[in-house]
Amino acid sequence: MNMQGKVALITGASRGIGRAIALALAQQGMKRLILIARDRQKLAEVASVIEAMGVEVAIVPVDLSKPIDVNVAVAQVWRSYGPIHLLVNCAGVAYQNSFLQSKLFQVQEELSVNLLGMYTLTSLIARRMASQRQGTIVNVSSLMGKVAAPTMATYSATKFAILGFSQALRRELAQYNIRVIALLPSLTDTDMVRDLKLFRWVIPMTPQQVAEAFITGLQKDAPEILVGWQSHLAVWCQRFAPWLLEMILRIATPPAPNKQLEEKPSFLNRIQRFNDFWLSRNIDSLVSALKF
Ligand SMILES: NC(=O)c1ccc[n+]([C@@H]2O[C@H](COP(=O)([O-])OP(=O)(O)OC[C@H]3O[C@@H](n4cnc5c(N)ncnc54)[C@H](OP(=O)(O)O)[C@@H]3O)[C@@H](O)[C@H]2O)c1
Repeated sequence: MNMQGKVALITGASRGIGRAIALALAQQGMKRLILIARDRQKLAEVASVIEAMGVEVAIVPVDLSKPIDVNVAVAQVWRSYGPIHLLVNCAGVAYQNSFLQSKLFQVQEELSVNLLGMYTLTSLIARRMASQRQGTIVNVSSLMGKVAAPTMATYSATKFAILGFSQALRRELAQYNIRVIALLPSLTDTDMVRDLKLFRWVIPMTPQQVAEAFITGLQKDAPEILVGWQSHLAVWCQRFAPWLLEMILRIATPPAPNKQLEEKPSFLNRIQRFNDFWLSRNIDSLVSALKF
């Protein structure tokens, strides 16, 4: 995509990956950026950095889980700052819990921001892009949209859904000259993951690294942008050695709260479980022997 002189709308632009993407787009010669999130003050801070780079910017504080507010905001934005050439759906929320202790209100928030919020905004913008016969839509999924993560079942479900949604729209909107791309970051050091129990061995990326991969993918017209070598390795492993990925995931998954109640296996028990593994070649027994 040629970004010179174009207008982009980025959701989740007040912090984290959305903020980094907005700054990276500003460096690519975009004419105007429209920034969406709920926090007006944080949006204004990002806007002042972008303005200092000589790029026009507008902020739109709106809650994406409120479809009527989003409808009104998009109509105003298109009238005042349109047409929009690039939409980046980056806003998202994540909760981590053992599934048996999951809370419905958190699941509802994940669904209403990650999925319904993205749907509402995309439908409003895509209709307008279709009448202009041009546009690019980028939906931010996650590596967890390819490899489901224990303790994040409903978040993973929303990220799998975003990939399916993007794949369907890619085929459906091509006739209107609208490209649809999915961005799949792996663990990234942002507010979102600060309170999460991290998976063992995963090295977090910076939001700037994700934004760089996003720009490169956009320039290459890639339909899916997988970020970082760890993501490539995980997806490769899932395709060619799913049993290995399964084993790694079981060992790397942080303990769910109810597991702390489990009795710690003694040294003798662990030797016995290794023995079980050799006799049965069963991955479950190996994992249970390695866990401590
Ligand atoms: N961090 C990771 O490890 C990681 C990995 C893979 C994919 N991702 C995805 O990348 C995207 C950005 O995540 P991040 O790590 O940058 O998270 P973050 O730092 O927590 O930022 C989330 C952004 O979404 C906005 N947002 C949340 N709820 C909203 C709502 N109801 N209405 C409007 N805006 C809302 C927030 O702004 P306000 O609070 O101001 O509204 C904020 O700008 C998400 O889709 C996430 O799933 C993240």
